[in-house]
Amino acid sequence: MNKIHLVEINSTNTYAKENIDKFEDKTVIYTDHQTAGRGRFTRKWFDLGSRNLYMTIVLHPGEKFIETYSNLTQYLALKTCKVLEAYGVNSQIKWPNDNLVNGKKIGGILSEAVFKGDKLKGIALGIGVNLNAKLEEVKAIPDRVATALNLEVNKPIDRDKFLDTLVEKFFEGYDDFLKEGFPSIREEYLKYSVLIGENITINHLNKQIQGKFKTINSDGTIQIETTSGSINLSIGDIMG
Ligand code: BTN
Repeated sequence: MNKIHLVEINSTNTYAKENIDKFEDKTVIYTDHQTAGRGRFTRKWFDLGSRNLYMTIVLHPGEKFIETYSNLTQYLALKTCKVLEAYGVNSQIKWPNDNLVNGKKIGGILSEAVFKGDKLKGIALGIGVNLNAKLEEVKAIPDRVATALNLEVNKPIDRDKFLDTLVEKFFEGYDDFLKEGFPSIREEYLKYSVLIGENITINHLNKQIQGKFKTINSDGTIQIETTSGSINLSIGDIMG
């Protein structure tokens, strides 16, 4: 596994995507500062300083895109929960891949696939985790109520140690996950998931859908019971 450290970059995901052919499978790119960090749905990912995690894992799992590759974000969210647990913090997952602590967002994942025609050239699996921030800094983050690990455990966090632990946990089960897919982690993922059984509003392709969050299916999609029946969605943003 290759590890590349950059002092500053626009976004580790953008950099990984633009140079996807140059990086071998399982290359880890991380930076101290992102000048144009991106989140899902064209949101920004804010730079809270060099002691926070901004990392992209470059993967070349195969040339034909399969469903399991979309579920890598959920796999990584689960691994992030495990690492946070090792710091004594209970973390939850808001479908599909937001990491929360006490309802506050601590980490987010952005996975982007690069294609040439219908051939998959690679995947840039990016994650940001707030590790060291001041309360006023996390309060200034728009869109979401956020937190940082140091604020939860009342001590500074060693960014490099956190990164190494997460990368190690990620690759520990990665090959098996590629073979077995989301069903192999579903039970555990469900245990960490919030809002199941509750009425939710989800933004789906610029449309708001309301209904009861029934479960997460074996392909990782969310099942929602609406007034006009049950639907499954593979993308969306649960509001609130
Ligand atoms: C989200 O919660 O919407 C996803 C946030 C993903 C942020 C990470 S930070 C490292 C990588 N580079 C980016 O520009 N984004 C991801």
